[in-house]
Amino acid sequence: MRLPFSLVLVLLSYDSVLAATHQKRTYSTHDYYVLEHIPHAGASLAEIASQLGVQVVERAGELANAWVVRVPKEDASLQKRGGDLVLDTLEALRRRASSPLLARSAESNHARRVVSSVKYLSRQELRQRVKRAPPSIRPGDENKPNGTLAAAVVDRLGIQDPLFPQQWHLVNEEYPQHMMNVTALWEMGITGQGIVTALVDDGLDYNSDDLADNFYAPGSYNYNDHEDLPTPKLFDDHHGTRCAGQIAAVKNNVCGMGVAYGSKVAGIRILSGPISDIDEAAALNYNYQNTSIFSCSWGPPDDGKSMEAPNYLIQRAMLNGIQSGRGGKGSVFVFASGNGAVYGDQCNFDGYTNSIYSITVAAIDYKGLHPIYSESCAANLVVAYSSGSGNHIVTTDVGKNACANTHGGTSAAAPNAAGVYALALSVRPDLNWRDMQHLTVRTAQVVNAEDPDWDKTAVGRPFSYKYGYGALNGVEFVTAAQKWKSVKPQTWVEMPAVQIANGTSNFVGEMKGGDLIVPGGLQSKITVTKDDLAKENFEALEHITVRVWISHTKRGDVEVEITSPNGIKSVLAARRRGDFAKTGYPGWRFMSVKHWDENPIGDWTIRVSDVGTEGHSGHFLGWSLSLFGSTVDPTIVKTYELSLLDTLLPPLVQETPTTSDPTSTKSHPKPTDHLPGDHGTAEGEASKPAFDNGDGKGDADVAQPTSTAVAPSATASMTPTPDEGWFTGMSNLVSDRKWFFGAAGLVLLFGLGVGIFFWRRAVRRRRAAYSTLPGGDDLAMRSLPGDAPRTKELYDAFGEPSDDEDADEETGLRPGRPQDRSPGGLGFHSGFLDDEDIHSPRSASPAPQRAYRDEPEEEEKRTRERASPSGSGGSGDGSWEHASQTR
Ligand SMILES: *[C@@H]1O[C@H](CO)[C@@H](O)[C@H](O)[C@H]1NC(C)=O
Ligand SMILES: *[C@@H]1O[C@H](CO)[C@@H](O)[C@H](O)[C@H]1NC(C)=O
Ligand SMILES: *[C@@H]1O[C@H](CO)[C@@H](O)[C@H](O)[C@H]1NC(C)=O
Ligand SMILES: *[C@@H]1O[C@H](CO)[C@@H](O)[C@H](O)[C@H]1NC(C)=O
Repeated sequence: MRLPFSLVLVLLSYDSVLAATHQKRTYSTHDYYVLEHIPHAGASLAEIASQLGVQVVERAGELANAWVVRVPKEDASLQKRGGDLVLDTLEALRRRASSPLLARSAESNHARRVVSSVKYLSRQELRQRVKRAPPSIRPGDENKPNGTLAAAVVDRLGIQDPLFPQQWHLVNEEYPQHMMNVTALWEMGITGQGIVTALVDDGLDYNSDDLADNFYAPGSYNYNDHEDLPTPKLFDDHHGTRCAGQIAAVKNNVCGMGVAYGSKVAGIRILSGPISDIDEAAALNYNYQNTSIFSCSWGPPDDGKSMEAPNYLIQRAMLNGIQSGRGGKGSVFVFASGNGAVYGDQCNFDGYTNSIYSITVAAIDYKGLHPIYSESCAANLVVAYSSGSGNHIVTTDVGKNACANTHGGTSAAAPNAAGVYALALSVRPDLNWRDMQHLTVRTAQVVNAEDPDWDKTAVGRPFSYKYGYGALNGVEFVTAAQKWKSVKPQTWVEMPAVQIANGTSNFVGEMKGGDLIVPGGLQSKITVTKDDLAKENFEALEHITVRVWISHTKRGDVEVEITSPNGIKSVLAARRRGDFAKTGYPGWRFMSVKHWDENPIGDWTIRVSDVGTEGHSGHFLGWSLSLFGSTVDPTIVKTYELSLLDTLLPPLVQETPTTSDPTSTKSHPKPTDHLPGDHGTAEGEASKPAFDNGDGKGDADVAQPTSTAVAPSATASMTPTPDEGWFTGMSNLVSDRKWFFGAAGLVLLFGLGVGIFFWRRAVRRRRAAYSTLPGGDDLAMRSLPGDAPRTKELYDAFGEPSDDEDADEETGLRPGRPQDRSPGGLGFHSGFLDDEDIHSPRSASPAPQRAYRDEPEEEEKRTRERASPSGSGGSGDGSWEHASQTR
């Protein structure tokens, strides 16, 4: 079976340390899972493993308390019926834990301990991170004459690399103002010594004469074959090697030189075959104490219709990277912005590039123009040089002495930036991940000052969706880094979500209510006060994120922008003509760096509009705003934690901050060197705004909403109104149950996870019932927020009622009735299984601890018989993990 399920569970204690080895996976004979254990919640890892019948393989990457476990492959007949032995066993335990009939029994207690010690359990599916064939590109001019500028550098540094003169990104004879500007740093002896950059890619040819001396084996690993060396093996495994050459090609007599030719490069191979989510997560944390920079030139499809974010495990890895990598200074994640601009794609529809934890790098070409492929968005921080207007990047290739002269795309822009960051870290290894972003914002250079896409930020910096803060400049960046005083720790303010016209969204992304999007759009305000900032020890603004709930029959028609208290506008979503998804934005999170250093106090106004295509419409259901920045008092340090609940509307758990964004299907990252066509030869431009969004500039056939036609009902009802009653009630509940809390949120997650699992299973069996979902089951499933819960189930999870309630497990689930909740049920989320064929579990009152039996009853251990999934095969089942949200 194919369902990668996420079961989210809860808490307790145990510390078992297996060596962080990397075992070869044997997917042909075993099924693999990732289990997140909650230490101090009662059951040890060994106990859980034995109860679930799994074998603990190793730690899951660098993620705390996460373990890779496996079982011998189930027999095929069970799988065909949609069963999963491990998940079913856990569910059986969960039911036992919450069965009122067994409420005070030992077995119930025992089950409860085990169940509540598991926070998350998900089956790992092998998935191909599809690597596309490289574009066929006309070779560049190989015989450009040596120019005088290059010759001078060659002389001064004694350079013998034969292709150095062709490396225009290092010394640009024709357009000397357009280059990475690093040779002056080399002359100062700054070449990146001591810094390691990992190329998370399709391999790295460490046998190349141009890379061997700078290859860092301890930071390298091959997740495709589970072996130590990242050997390129497929005919088109040249992408990672080329990117590595840009960073650290050795100064010798082979090809050209790297931007930081004195630094080291590691290869982490993930793109050349199917890997699981946990392997991608582990890759992003591989050797992350000694490796400083992770250069990632891949992402979700750049097709102008995908909207995908990394899933829970991968988000955890990125968060872990910035929190714990490099001795706590944080891994520097550099992501290519994407090559889909010709398809109208934007980097705010990609959860990797719009993460606040990544530095998003777009491209400009050797003339300084914007190449047709390079994606724009408010999350673009900077541009670096790459192919376009007929010139490509010259670098090392796979082979002993092979060079490449057709490299390009934003794939090649990211490593050029990574090289500059390596230079800076070699002189200031103490700088943290946010320092790198600050320095980038402050030192980037305006290019094409006449380009109408430039706008001024509130503090007077030029910003553009195409160029971010401008072109990364080695000399400017590194000299500023030398003097830089490290920023104070990060803090954040999460404003309560605004719910519009009773708009709701459950954990599978079904949205109801909201205001109809009228011509001219809808506006809503969130007011940030001085107190809001003071409470969170907040000093200076860096990133903002905006989560939106918008239903629409054609997602690509929706335009979203936010205007700051100082009148600075960030376009978050511009029209995407090719995006016909009917699933809207169920809690999708956008990001903008355009408000960096702005005073955030006052009204933030969002405007949601559409282009008014005949026959298409949508509703605006709600939104939330988060501000990230530096602390006033640096001694107060908060630690960000992921939540799985944040795509719910109205939100339920406020005390769990989050970066989680499971709004869309799991993506299949791929290198971004695949371009629609001959990306390197097309002439760039510098005369068009990236987006029009109602400005009247640009695209004439886009409807121009008039901003005066604001729907009155929208403005009127849209002040943040946290549901005080609910939260008050909840906290009472929680404080009444101290034994349980610490855990309440997690218990929820557990319950929700189980809910999702069984809900999805049920859905497969009664697809017809979901025909009311927009676009049909298939589509709806694909857009499900991966790990978020359904509202109704969540309510049920809070407690059940009690023993006098109908305890018949065979009855269907009762609708959630929060007002009926009894704290007694808190223990083990009960019934969030809204699903006919799942017995509605009942939660029991916390039972006195007593002895328990170890062995679950045999029939419970073995899974229940299940109706077989409907014949629709692939779509209903794994779709939300497997499928890209594209159509
Ligand atoms: C460029 O000049 C250097 C040094 O003058 C020389 O070694 C190299 O062969 C020249 N390269 C080309 C392509 O002419
Ligand atoms: C590169 O740095 C030098 C300082 O060494 C500066 O004078 C020059 O203008 C810079 N070039 C570019 C293209 O920024
Ligand atoms: C990191 O580097 C240090 C010193 O070079 C070395 O002793 C240590 O083993 C390395 N750690 C890892 C995890 O590679
Ligand atoms: C929202 O729900 C409340 C209470 O159910 C109701 O009074 C109100 O009219 C609803 N508002 C809208 C805009 O539907």
